[in-house]
Amino acid sequence: MNLLSSDDLSREQINKIFSIADHISDGKEELALADNATMALLFEKPSTRTRLSFEVAMAQLNGSAFYIDRHTSQLSRGETIADTAKVLGSYCDFIAARLFKQSDLVELAENAVGVPVINALTDIEHPTQALADLYTIKEFKGSIKNMEIAFIGDIATNTANSLMLTAAKLGANVTLIGPKGYMPNSTYVNKAKEYSKTRVTSSLVEGLEGADIIYTDTYVSMGEEKYAEKRRKLFSGYQVNAKVVSMAKKDAKVMHCLMAHRGEEITSEVLDGPQSIVWTQARNKLLLNKAIILFLSENTK
Ligand code: CP
Ligand code: NVA
Repeated sequence: MNLLSSDDLSREQINKIFSIADHISDGKEELALADNATMALLFEKPSTRTRLSFEVAMAQLNGSAFYIDRHTSQLSRGETIADTAKVLGSYCDFIAARLFKQSDLVELAENAVGVPVINALTDIEHPTQALADLYTIKEFKGSIKNMEIAFIGDIATNTANSLMLTAAKLGANVTLIGPKGYMPNSTYVNKAKEYSKTRVTSSLVEGLEGADIIYTDTYVSMGEEKYAEKRRKLFSGYQVNAKVVSMAKKDAKVMHCLMAHRGEEITSEVLDGPQSIVWTQARNKLLLNKAIILFLSENTK
């Protein structure tokens, strides 16, 4: 089984991954991978958290992870994704890939037959992030069902897409708040609407009313640097600052997938403030990645 998209997981499967994570954190019983399991990490874009959390996850599960990037591999000389996938799949038991295009990830999975492939972020999805995010919400709020999540700023990011779909499957309502005329990915909005209330608005006041969670992401995602100037202007009214936070519920929590651009999409005052849960959110990527690896290993036998 692969995890290429947040849509690959049913609500039951997401809950199963969460229960594996609970199990690991309780330390009740040994959960283990097959001896000497290996993971290839194929990355075309930079990463701190996703890369290291998969590497540490494999080490703590008594396996090993091997990092390979576009610049130092034969991808840089034109070797195809398909040929690369055949080789990685013949060496390793898992592949986690951070690629520019979701279609390349699908091609990778088609050619790494029998090896679970994990989406470590593409242009349109970041499913492992969404699992860590929702698990963190459960940790702080006690449950996910009926939570009101306000996603502010670049509402068309990979993070927004995966978060809205995963949250909706678990019964949370996501409101996407961004500038007038800047639309989210309609495929994800429509899919999310099948499960839960998913709204789009340009009004911070309207979108934040009753919000339990305030979530934001960078104005300029990796690979979109050419739009940087335009994006900074476009989203400037949608910074998560103290005033914006005060529009949500008093006990609302602030989340960010990180890395943060302090002073752009979020102020330091909020990021480091009492309502921020970003460091637990980041730490939970390690726990959830371990749970994802164990879940996929169990479902690929
Ligand atoms: N949240 C996240 O994916 O961080 P990295 O880009 O550092 O992996
Ligand atoms: N939307 C961001 C997420 C980084 C984790 C990006 O793609 O750069």
